[in-house]
Formats: sequence, structure tokens, C-alpha cells
Amino acid sequence: MSDPQPTDPRGVLIVDLGTQYTQLIARRIREAGTWCEITIPEHALERARAMDLGGLVLSGGPASVYSEGSPRPSRELLELGVGVLGICYGMQWMCQELGGKVRACDRREYGRTTMEVGGAEGLFEGLPGATDVWMSHGDRVETLPQGFLTHASSSNCEHAAVSGDGGRLWGVQFHPEVTHTPRGCEMIANFLGRVCRLPGDWRSDSIVGREVARVREKVGETGEIVLGLSGGVDSSVAAMILREAVGDRLHAIFVDNGLLRKGEREAVERTFRDRFQLDLTVVDASERFLAKLAGVTDPERKRKVIGHEFIEVFREEATRFCDARFLGQGTLYPDVIESVAAHGGSTAVIKSHHNVGGLPEDMDMELIEPLRELFKDEVREIGRFLGLDAVLVDRQPFPGPGLGVRIVGEVTPERVATLQEADHIMTSEIEAAGEAEGLWQYFAVLLPIKSVGVMGDARTYEDACALRVVKSLDGMTADWAHLPPELVGRISNRIINEVRGINRVVLDVTSKPPGTIEWE
Ligand code: XMP
Repeated sequence: MSDPQPTDPRGVLIVDLGTQYTQLIARRIREAGTWCEITIPEHALERARAMDLGGLVLSGGPASVYSEGSPRPSRELLELGVGVLGICYGMQWMCQELGGKVRACDRREYGRTTMEVGGAEGLFEGLPGATDVWMSHGDRVETLPQGFLTHASSSNCEHAAVSGDGGRLWGVQFHPEVTHTPRGCEMIANFLGRVCRLPGDWRSDSIVGREVARVREKVGETGEIVLGLSGGVDSSVAAMILREAVGDRLHAIFVDNGLLRKGEREAVERTFRDRFQLDLTVVDASERFLAKLAGVTDPERKRKVIGHEFIEVFREEATRFCDARFLGQGTLYPDVIESVAAHGGSTAVIKSHHNVGGLPEDMDMELIEPLRELFKDEVREIGRFLGLDAVLVDRQPFPGPGLGVRIVGEVTPERVATLQEADHIMTSEIEAAGEAEGLWQYFAVLLPIKSVGVMGDARTYEDACALRVVKSLDGMTADWAHLPPELVGRISNRIINEVRGINRVVLDVTSKPPGTIEWE
């Protein structure tokens, strides 16, 4: 978390008490036009005092307030004079802390329920007397703290929404942040506007000026910045902000690792060098990468080789800018949020992800991360605001190791060229058919499986190619997406007819989990 700045907007602090929805709460608040930050209970009071605090949200969480080791923020948080919204566990903690009683429910309540609202006030202004909400709790507040009022009840939860201290403290047993609570956004907006009296005029692009000022302050009049530009939305938007801040003292480096999609390198050159006049160095390191990948078939080994080589190439190039003391990175907020692990324990490494940002600490450069307080959709919005084309801003995610993890088995120059062609046909057909919208990713995968085919009168014995098309909100889970059969047929026909080396096309109908989106 960056230090408080005098230019920080007035905002809400979300205290993460272990829910999986913390980022969703933050997104909802920002969508409602209010700046917000997330922190853990241990740091909450310090942060609340340091920032220009306009309100507090205490999130839900899987623990019981009466069990040992459950998250316990400082009670002083409730005494800072700002509006407070406790959600589920957050409400239970607040009520218990103020003298109420929390007990286990006779039966867990999980799912949609209809709640009767006593009056259209506070959180419920403008809402009907009966409204659907999403519940997920095993405990409930049984006795309210003194002076608290109940505003809404459901059949299984008497105190579904409560308030205290003259309408400054609010608690809800349900989850207003999830889409299953259809009027939840209005409740959050009411909390922000009516309880916290926040103006709701924050916009993600208003952060640009602040970040530009921060960067200038950090690098001074003469400081130079080196940035790894991948052509993806994060590093592209970071480049635009940094360029705005330091002009041609920003040196962008684009590494062509030989594992890019068709036309990718040229598109980056056109956009950043020709159009935005960035000082862009394009390093053609494809031979070097492909030589290192010769004979490597294990997916993790491939990822390591590519990641390692990238660092080497970048380091060599960066040393040419020997006066540059700063390293720009497109790190996003989800990567820096401190959070309470909802279910404890460490997460198994499924794949060792590599990003352009994954550079070693021993580069001895100071990090500049102009996006570290932003979510992906906000970065996209800023990209549009700064004039980047929709093709770039709305681009599907592309993994750091590129086509290397989409060529199952050994990566050779010939196989890269084959996949580039097949992938180009597939993506351009999907886009031309207007089917790209709503898809998270759509790409081709080259399989090391040869099968027999017949073309003309001749026997073929060539590789197969898989079409991977998924819908997802964040890449953590994904559903395989349905394309119109005629479109799939057209893609298949074109690939088999136009791409030498592929004689069979298959459709991947695996969701995540149990599959992953990429094949390696
Ligand atoms: P998986 O395959 O793990 O992918 O389901 C989830 C999302 O992450 C992308 N991905 C990567 N992104 N570096 C990245 O920047 C990587 O090494 C990497 N591997 C996978 C993948 O494209 C999907 O959107």
C-alpha cells in the first residue's frame, strides 16, 4: 500500500474479514463513484487514520465471532465518526462488540431469500418493501446492541438489516455486493451517499493526474524509467501514464520471444512507436528463445526456460539505458491487496505464471507501478481515456510464455508458424462473426497428436489443433463457451485447408475447474 498523499481522494476503507467477496465489494464501491481501499484487520485502524476516511465497510468472513482466532479489528474503528457498514460477519462482529449477542442458527441459511423492509430509509431509500437478497450464514445476531433498530427481516433472520448510533452504523446479514442481491448496488450507493454523505464523483480516469504527479515526484526532473512493454493492456496503459509523466525519459522494451501471435510485434510498433512516439526498443530474441526451447516438452520446464530467458534479455537491454534507475511495471491492485486467507493454508502452485513484470529483485532499480491501486476494468477505462484503441484495450489476456504454452510438446519454429496461422484464422473468424463479445479468451492450441486424414486423393498424417473458447469473469474459473456450429465448421474447414501441418480440428469442451484455460 502506498503512503497517504495529500491528493488522495476521500474514500472508504474495506476491512477484509476473510470473505471471498472483498474485491467485489471494492468494485461495487468504485462503480458507485467512490474511491476505496482494502486492508486487513491488523492494519485497519492505522490506515483509517492515515487516509481521508469517508466510511468503513467490514466484510463478511467464514469464521464465527465467538470462536478462537476469528478476525477482530480494533473497536476504535467504530468510533471514528464515519458511516460503517458491516456485512454478515462484519455485522455480527460489530453487534457483539457493542454489547449484542450472536448465536449459531438452527439451520444454515444459504441462497436467495425475500426480505421485508420496514421503511424506505437509510440503505433502503427508493427500494420496495419486499426485496430479494442473498444470504450465506451459519450465525446470526440474536440480541441487538442497545439503541440499535431492525430495518428488515426474513423468515429465517429477524435482524437482516440493522442500524445504530442514529443511522451511522449499519449491519446487514445478507450480501449486497453479489449479483444475486438484485438491488444490492442501490443499497451500497445509499450507504455511500446517504449514510457517509460521499459525493459519488470519483472516476477511474481521475487517478491519472494523481499517478502522473506521483511518478514525477518520485523520479524527479531527470530520472529515467525502463518499462517492459508486452502489448497487453496493463503494460500499455502503464506506458501511457509514464510517458505522460516523464516524456522521452521513458524507455520501453518489447521482447519478441518468437512466441507471439501473428502480427503482434508489428501492431505494437505501429501503436507505440509510430502513433504515440514512445522511445521503443524492439528486441528480436526469437532465435535465442527457440534455441533454448529445443527438445523441451515438460510444461513447467518450458515456462521456466521462457521466464528465465526473458529476464536475461530484458536485463541486457535495460543496461543500455544505464542512467535509468527506475523500473516501470503494470502491477494491478489484486496482486498487491493484503487479504485474510478465507480458508487458511497455502494454495498449490498449478502453473508458475510469468508476466512481463516478473523481473528479479537484483535488478537494483526502484519500482514504479502506476496501476497498483486499480482493477483491470478500471485500467481498461483509463486506456480508453488515454486514447488507446479498443482492439488493444479490450484485448483478451495473453500469457507471458505466449504460444509456448499453447504448443503442447516441443516448440519448434515450424510449429510456431503453424499455430500462428491457425490461431489467426480462428480469431479473425470469431471476430468477423461478431461472436467475440462476452468471451474471455478464444485461441488455438497445437497438439502433438498425428492422425490420418485424406485430402484430395492423398493420405495425410499431420497434427491436430484444438479450439479453446471460454467465458470467465476473472480467469479463476471458466466455462467452455458455445459457438454457433456453422462458425466452428468454417474455422475448421479454413484451418485444414489453409494451414499446412494440421489435418484435424477438435473443440475443447472442458471448463475450469477441472481443466485450466491454457493447455500447459
Ligand atoms: P490458466 O491456464 O491457469 O489461466 O487457467 C488463467 C488465466 O491466466 C492466463 N495465464 C497467464 N497469464 N502469465 C500471464 O500473464 C502466465 O504465465 C499465464 N499463464 C496463464 C491465461 O491466459 C488465463 O487468462
